[in-house]
Amino acid sequence: PAPGWAIDADVVVVGSGVAGLTTALRCAAAGLATVVVTKARLDDGSTRWAQGGIAAALGEGDTPEQHLDDTLVAGAGLCDETAVRALVTEGPGAVRRLIDTGARFDTTEAGAIALTREGGHHRRRIAHAGGDATGAEISRALVGAVRAAALRTIENALVLDLITDAEGRTAGVTLHVMGEGQHDGVGAVRAPAVVLATGGMGQVFSATTNPPVSTGDGVALALRAGAEVSDLEFVQFHPTVLFLGADSEGQQPLVSEAVRGEGAHLVDASGTRFMLGQHELAELAPRDIVAKAITRQMHLTGTEHMYLDARHFGAGMWERRFPTILAACRTHGIDPVTEPIPVAPAAHYASGGVRTDLRGRTTVPGLYACGETACTGVHGANRLASNSLLEGLVFAERIAADIVAAGPRERTSDTVPEGPEPVTVPLLAAESRTEIQRIMTRGAGVIRSADSLAVAAERLEALGSTAGDPGTDSGEGAAKDAVPGVEAWEATNLLLVSRVLVAAAREREETRGCHWREDRPDRDDTAWRRHLVVRTGRDRQ
Ligand code: SIN
Repeated sequence: PAPGWAIDADVVVVGSGVAGLTTALRCAAAGLATVVVTKARLDDGSTRWAQGGIAAALGEGDTPEQHLDDTLVAGAGLCDETAVRALVTEGPGAVRRLIDTGARFDTTEAGAIALTREGGHHRRRIAHAGGDATGAEISRALVGAVRAAALRTIENALVLDLITDAEGRTAGVTLHVMGEGQHDGVGAVRAPAVVLATGGMGQVFSATTNPPVSTGDGVALALRAGAEVSDLEFVQFHPTVLFLGADSEGQQPLVSEAVRGEGAHLVDASGTRFMLGQHELAELAPRDIVAKAITRQMHLTGTEHMYLDARHFGAGMWERRFPTILAACRTHGIDPVTEPIPVAPAAHYASGGVRTDLRGRTTVPGLYACGETACTGVHGANRLASNSLLEGLVFAERIAADIVAAGPRERTSDTVPEGPEPVTVPLLAAESRTEIQRIMTRGAGVIRSADSLAVAAERLEALGSTAGDPGTDSGEGAAKDAVPGVEAWEATNLLLVSRVLVAAAREREETRGCHWREDRPDRDDTAWRRHLVVRTGRDRQ
């Protein structure tokens, strides 16, 4: 496709969840010309779906040090302690600044922020909003603030690739925009600072809590740009996702850990609480432990799901505290007030991502990554519940501070391309998405082995060989001058991140955190207390 339009800015933020919008608001408040681009509408990402809440040491008797301890334990030996320290010490202030931005959290009768518990937390530390609609409230507040500040936003804009100057510095991004009038078709935002905040890659799997837009676009862009990516093997499977049938595909309704935090029990079909005796925190053990226990129990009992029993909450508490989950269950014909909820694990969160330092800088100068797209080191091998919104907030502020400190760098206009570079990636047929998801679910899901991963790698390779000319929408046979569609790009990005994920999962011959290799069931601290870092397809230490 021919280059279309180009606009200039000091910073372009790709993505509009908590990480992206917080970065953009802070940069704009400091006077930088800031553009937010987002693949769908501003509130279509994962943030809106977050239920349980946001973790921070806000409660009486709680301290950042205790939050740090719980985070390190969940991370199974692979957290970067300095990054975690930044997260937990700056977290309470970041939540208060979010409140100043307009987010309204649930409060106690005394007017304090109400706090609940979730897996892996030894204290009540999770702030929530609308009962179980925390992400929706955060999204509402941030989108409202972005509109009030009249920030420049481009919706329906799929990011294609990074533009770099002759010295390899970030110079902007190419985009494919659909139906936005003046900036329609393929174009570019030129800026010396690009922040990737595109969320996760849950759509790599058939069943996920992630919305359809979570296709790993930021990680794929970073890989193509030669930035380092780390820890992709650590995909977190949420233990309690509403079970809608073994063949149910796409986004599945989450049943928040906060339901267990308020006292719900996990039981098998005979009503036995199988988490008792497995961990000192029972149902509130870290997420990887609960997901594994549920999966084991499913295998042991030959069933496709377990149950979450919270009938003892009663109708009043269900309606007041968990209205979203109650409505979702009832939509699917289950009434949690009178019956246990069928639940099974589903893909939920990418603990790894684009590798950054403590200021959110990637290994490509001028390119930043924030939120689920990033691997800052705070999650290690398994993210602690409700640390993700917090990471988005805290590291967004750090990134904005770094960009603001650098000032609006003078653009090297003689070396920056005037229009977008032609796209050079062979694109996959849009229909390949379902095939990728099935391959990944079978071969690289909750339980993996050398054999299952080898099969997945082989099938992904075969699928990759069907990728076609970038000028086509659907691989082989489509018109050469067609503008590549979003679906083809998404499938292409899903394939790229899946390949890297599978390669890392094959290489890590141990079980750690949310990476469960049934052929290597033990954690091996001698060989594997280290990260797998990938750059342009080459593994480096
Ligand atoms: C939940 O509400 O269970 C999700 C919390 C999280 O993923 O951190």
